[in-house]
Amino acid sequence: MKDARLQPVHLADYTPPAYLVDGVELTFRLHPTATRVRARIAFRPNPDTTDRRFFLHGEDLILLSATIDGTPVTPEVTPEGLTAEVPDAPFTWETEVEIAPEKNTALEGLYMSGGMYCTQCEAEGFRKITYYPDRPDVMAPFKVRIESDLPVLLSNGNPVGAGAGWGEWHDPWPKPAYLFALVAGDLVATSGTFTTCEGREVDLNIWVRPVDQGKADYALDSLIRSMKWDEDAYGRAYDLDVFNIVAVDDFNMGAMENKGLNIFNSRYVLASPETATDRDYENIERIIAHEYFHNWTGNRITCRDWFQLCLKEGLTVFRDQQFAGDARSHAVKRIEDVIALRSRQFREDGGPLAHPVRPESYTEINNFYTATVYEKGAEVIGMLRRLVGPEGYDKALALYFDRHDGDAATIEDWLTVFEDATGRDLSQFKRWYAQAGTPRLTVTDGFEDGTYTLHVEQETPPTSGQPEKHAQVIPLAVGLLSPNGDEVVPTTVLEVTETRQSFTFEGLAAKPVPSLLRGFSAPVILNRETSAEERAFLLAHDTDAFNKWEAGRALARDVLAAMIAESAAPAPAYLDALAAMARDEALDPAFRALALRLPGEDQMAEELHSRGHTPDPLAIHAAREQLKSAVAAHLGGLWGPLYDQMTCPGPYSPGAADAGRRALRLAALGHMARLDAGEKARAHFLQANNMTDEIGALSVLLEIGSGEEELARFERRWGDDRLVMDKWFALQTSLAAPDRAAATTAALTEHPDFTWQNPNRFRAVIGGLTMNAAGFHDPSGAGYDLVADWLIRLDGVNPQTAARMSTAFETWTRYDSDRRARMRAAMERIAAREGLSRDMGEMISRLLGAGR
Ligand code: TRP
Ligand code: ZN
Repeated sequence: MKDARLQPVHLADYTPPAYLVDGVELTFRLHPTATRVRARIAFRPNPDTTDRRFFLHGEDLILLSATIDGTPVTPEVTPEGLTAEVPDAPFTWETEVEIAPEKNTALEGLYMSGGMYCTQCEAEGFRKITYYPDRPDVMAPFKVRIESDLPVLLSNGNPVGAGAGWGEWHDPWPKPAYLFALVAGDLVATSGTFTTCEGREVDLNIWVRPVDQGKADYALDSLIRSMKWDEDAYGRAYDLDVFNIVAVDDFNMGAMENKGLNIFNSRYVLASPETATDRDYENIERIIAHEYFHNWTGNRITCRDWFQLCLKEGLTVFRDQQFAGDARSHAVKRIEDVIALRSRQFREDGGPLAHPVRPESYTEINNFYTATVYEKGAEVIGMLRRLVGPEGYDKALALYFDRHDGDAATIEDWLTVFEDATGRDLSQFKRWYAQAGTPRLTVTDGFEDGTYTLHVEQETPPTSGQPEKHAQVIPLAVGLLSPNGDEVVPTTVLEVTETRQSFTFEGLAAKPVPSLLRGFSAPVILNRETSAEERAFLLAHDTDAFNKWEAGRALARDVLAAMIAESAAPAPAYLDALAAMARDEALDPAFRALALRLPGEDQMAEELHSRGHTPDPLAIHAAREQLKSAVAAHLGGLWGPLYDQMTCPGPYSPGAADAGRRALRLAALGHMARLDAGEKARAHFLQANNMTDEIGALSVLLEIGSGEEELARFERRWGDDRLVMDKWFALQTSLAAPDRAAATTAALTEHPDFTWQNPNRFRAVIGGLTMNAAGFHDPSGAGYDLVADWLIRLDGVNPQTAARMSTAFETWTRYDSDRRARMRAAMERIAAREGLSRDMGEMISRLLGAGR
């Protein structure tokens, strides 16, 4: 018989739940190997369906007893759950089960981390805690009693009682089981309060282990700012008397929005200037905000089923991006978001794992927490806002909260709200949710008698299961510059709706230079034949900060492509434009640092592939190194003064202004190292009084093949700090020379601190290698083999994290036949593992589905 858990689930097969839940009472008697969970659940037949099959999910549970209205029953139990004969009327269901949190290495359900108990229930982890209808459209208020000798006992909602060895919590807001959480441990809090605009006093606590005391101030500050921002920007106030956040070392993802009790990967909570980088601070701020914002977009309004995941994730990412833009710089934030979108989402969209923002089927939902659902999902909302305007957007959101508060909603509900609020027909727009793949926009232009015409063509390439695509609505933000650099037409949004379409601008004195896709107004690939001169012109004159950066980026891509394909020398137009930009003191240092950053190696591989070449990762690496050295030499006189100018007076502050200066200063240092063999970088490393500078200097040294001594020194200093040591590991595997990357990684896996069952450490070491494009793709195949070996090992312990990392192979069809064969062999070896997880099984079969 086929294993039911390996069968795909289809959006089209949705049926409402047969029974609804009016209330849940849970009692936990915690024990590492024998935790008892008693559940008392008030069920009632769902009036909206005639389906009366009673099924409760449950996995890896020992069922000790079950009763209906107090009468013992014997349910029929399978590996996926249980069925039982139940009344066609309201009834009380009670069970007791036993589970073993200490043996739970998958980190899903109730598990232990560093002596504390914690939970992770999204998406389908609650079924590993007790028997329950574990689906997001079943919502109920929860009462929880925890019995344990540990000092801090937490669950969702408000505390309602506590004594020696017990604590009770009540969450009045009906919620799906995936938002359930429980924590028990020896923890200390960094605390504060927040008074909401509705006058509610909320106690805020960030709980950490005693060794980490003092490192949660920035998280608390970020939380308070997020609460205020959601009131100001969206009119959303918090709705409980307490808000708890707990930092956990062993965690599969970034963080989780459990109602009133967010649980975080400790790397997104803990920070001190000495141990956290500017990037860490930025991530903490962003992820604290993200999880907090879920309280309305995700919790108060949740998803009907997991196909609707982007309903909460795309919207919440969009909200956290708006928040971060307000807190820092909108232009810099947008550039960073687009860099991330291109490197993760475009990569996914261009390979065998491409799927729509709202997928139509899955085998393991954990495999769909992707860049497409999150980041492209956020882009889709950004486009919607661009199309209906900020006021239309605000009106639609107000209606959304009003109409759907307390619901488990769908993308159809979401779009209907926009249609009702703005009167716009969104039937074509809906394709953004259904069609996978990155649309290509090809633009040509003409000028005659004062009229300027843009000809636009759109095409979305076929993706797995979707051979044909239809035209999408693409908001194309355009500005026009006159040849002398003045803006003659300010930003206008053209709505591209057809496969081929033209737009005209009249009354122009001379042929303008177009600035297209300003602010990256749609997640598309823009093709336009342009000269290096025109790009340099835009880099110098564009008033749109994003496009100014983009012009430099495009120049760099062209230069690198020519260096790789034709061994051309770096184009002087590029070097001169870069020099002018780097010197321009009117520009934000953070912006200048971003403009000095070259496109990544994987990006270049994607670029070359899309231009019809077979990318050679070693050639890309060599060309990129050569270009970096050429930039260093060409702008030789600039770096010293820039380095001196960008010091930050005063104590360390993680704010955007100082972070931008440090970034530009480190960029200067990186170039100097190519001219002085790392002398300045060594001094910088020794003088550093914060982790940004310390690790920044160390990576500069590793990039030029130096830094042995500094690595050892760093290890002596930070050997006891888990999060800092993650950086130490990751730096070495991600920056190792291509021919040594696999060996370096293999050696590090022998290090006594390579605690590979910890996801952060595994990602640092093995994930670091997969990020080292030239090293991972070394022609020997050693990188592929090593990664496959470790994925096989991890899959037996933590399928979710192992499956996520299999995306290292998602670009395999880009490469030459030798590399393709080696990658395929590596994947087939993984697939052959005895007891292969459902997570990994689905990933490998999707990966191999292409190019077979
Ligand atoms: N909902 C979480 C977020 O985006 C992410 C999440 C989903 C998650 N599944 C998880 C986190 C499993 C940790 C483990 O904010
Ligand atoms: Zn989220």
